[in-house]
Amino acid sequence: MSVKTPFYYYDLTLLENTLEAMSSAINNPNFKVHYAIKANAEDRILQTIKNHGLGADCVSGNEIKKAIALGFNPENIVFAGIGKSDEELDIAISNGIHSINCESIEELVVINEIAEKHDAIANIAFRINPNVDAQTHHKITTGLNENKFGIPITELDAAVDEILKHKHLALKGVHFHIGSQILNLNPFANLCQQANNVIANLKARGIALEHINVGGGLGINYNNPDSQLIPNFEEYFKVFEKFLNLDEGQTVHFELGRSIVGQCGSLISKVLYVKKGANSKFAIIDAGMTDLIRPALYNAYHKVENLSQTGDELEPYHVVGPICESSDTFGKTELPTTTRGDYMMIRSAGAYGQVLSSNYNLRERAATIYSDEQSLASCIGSEKKAQTLEVV
Ligand code: LLP
Repeated sequence: MSVKTPFYYYDLTLLENTLEAMSSAINNPNFKVHYAIKANAEDRILQTIKNHGLGADCVSGNEIKKAIALGFNPENIVFAGIGKSDEELDIAISNGIHSINCESIEELVVINEIAEKHDAIANIAFRINPNVDAQTHHKITTGLNENKFGIPITELDAAVDEILKHKHLALKGVHFHIGSQILNLNPFANLCQQANNVIANLKARGIALEHINVGGGLGINYNNPDSQLIPNFEEYFKVFEKFLNLDEGQTVHFELGRSIVGQCGSLISKVLYVKKGANSKFAIIDAGMTDLIRPALYNAYHKVENLSQTGDELEPYHVVGPICESSDTFGKTELPTTTRGDYMMIRSAGAYGQVLSSNYNLRERAATIYSDEQSLASCIGSEKKAQTLEVV
């Protein structure tokens, strides 16, 4: 039975395989991954990741609540964010999560007050801004001095002075996150160098850290997803093995989001009209920036495929959504001759796709379909390309 478009389609087998590849790339028993829930918070995605033994990296009280409701152990939950509300801190502290990653000296005072109310000791990691260029899109760069995130390295001493004043805070770790969609691994090596300096400074002040959290950020191949459905986790973890100086018993935490879920999700849409414009032919589809905002927000490229046509001869199309904004475009691409009713597949949409959707223009939100519930071929009412579709 065909499914109403647009909808998100998730390949759970690919998700499992990605998780498996990630785990087998970890050679160090002290390396631990917390999945960044912000990338995709659909129930079965989270359950699959939890069942694989990962922890949860949360950025809101609701993410913490959802993680706990789905069975993540609070011991495996970390919480970051520069603007945590009192209610959110309350949720974090009352559930005794593993680490509150504190982003300012001012926040320390508030966390202490709330922990005191609960008669608890809050486990703290300092999120430090390492001033390392992630060499990625400026809108998803987070670890430079000009960015709002983290405690500047120059304030580290003052932050230590402050935390030592508070009885309800325990400094357990440090946290860094330099940005997202990072494909060149050198910035991670630079991060390790800065982290080593921070760890040494804290050690010199008599502070022994239990964990070093190096954030997330590993990128995926948007241009040619089929050439690399699973990111190169080995190379990624090797950088930290090689460059991070650790003391006995210290654990390293990673917060991967996109690299785990990016390729397992696609946005499926139908062509409403093919219209001849003055300069190009528009394929107007029923998915738009309300379903996937990355192209509008970051000029991001997502590969678009026509699932209904098999012809070898390609023509240029400008694939656009129905929303009343010129930024509502999925870009110009070559497709076989496309007609009304064709199904289009927007690839690599598993991360920061559905979570960032809105109901602008009072549009309905796209449904969620999982591969073990219905095959993609049956979702689009065609068994014709079933074999090729199942690999996605
Ligand atoms: N940890 C922290 C503190 C973060 O801020 C993020 C992402 C992550 C971990 C996970 O990073 P990942 O492994 O997924 O790169 N909406 C943008 C991406 C924003 C990323 C925000 N922070 C996009 O669609 O490209």
